[in-house]
Amino acid sequence: MAQAETDTSCTEPPTTNAMPRRPRILLAASGSVAAIKFGNLCRCFSEWAEVKAVATKSALHFIDKMTIPSDVVLYTDEDEWTSWKKIGDSVLHIELRRWADIMVIAPLSANTLGKIAGGLCDNLLTCVVRAWDYSKPLFVAPAMNTFMWSNPFTEKHLVSIDELGITLIPPVTKRLACGDYGNGAMAEPSLIYKTIRLFLESHPVSGVSDV
Ligand SMILES: Cc1cc2nc3c(=O)[nH]c(=O)nc-3n(C[C@H](O)[C@H](O)[C@H](O)COP(=O)(O)O)c2cc1C
Repeated sequence: MAQAETDTSCTEPPTTNAMPRRPRILLAASGSVAAIKFGNLCRCFSEWAEVKAVATKSALHFIDKMTIPSDVVLYTDEDEWTSWKKIGDSVLHIELRRWADIMVIAPLSANTLGKIAGGLCDNLLTCVVRAWDYSKPLFVAPAMNTFMWSNPFTEKHLVSIDELGITLIPPVTKRLACGDYGNGAMAEPSLIYKTIRLFLESHPVSGVSDV
């Protein structure tokens, strides 16, 4: 099992506004090696928000479940089907979309980027995105090999998701886990955390929920 990196730098950004209630953040991970940092991200966010988590089948290869805080439920594709037996039962990807004030996909793999851009929805994560209510914010932090990032498909897919209203937290340039040097590494969890927290403090969630 991959060991999560310890990043203790999810420090408090300056507070700009009181929040009416704790925001509900749906954190999702797809199958990039950066998913080893997912537990750390969940911990940062769960200290000030309600957090639910979603992971793709590939992401589970990188996530050490012991790093997920005990108050964060991690949903997988199997939960879609074990929670639904008959008409009238709740549908998990719809329930998660209703529950969330905001969705953050970190890391976003090349594969899941392509699927979202093309409207495909063959797992829990992509079903939530396909059913997303774009009056609510959705942020993504891609993480992939530098040649995947510079592949012409990436630019096309980024244009498509931008048109949907998805906000990009751009990757950074560094030595990647595979040994290549270049752009494509996921932004640091501390930067992702600060970006989302500052966004929510300047766009406070309403106290009224549609759940
Ligand atoms: C060891 C390993 C590391 C990988 N790292 C990445 C990565 O950093 N970024 C990426 O986009 N794909 C990466 N992949 C490929 C994805 O895991 C693969 O495309 C998978 O189908 C993604 O599925 P998902 O998008 O449903 O999570 C990696 C694969 C392996 C075996």
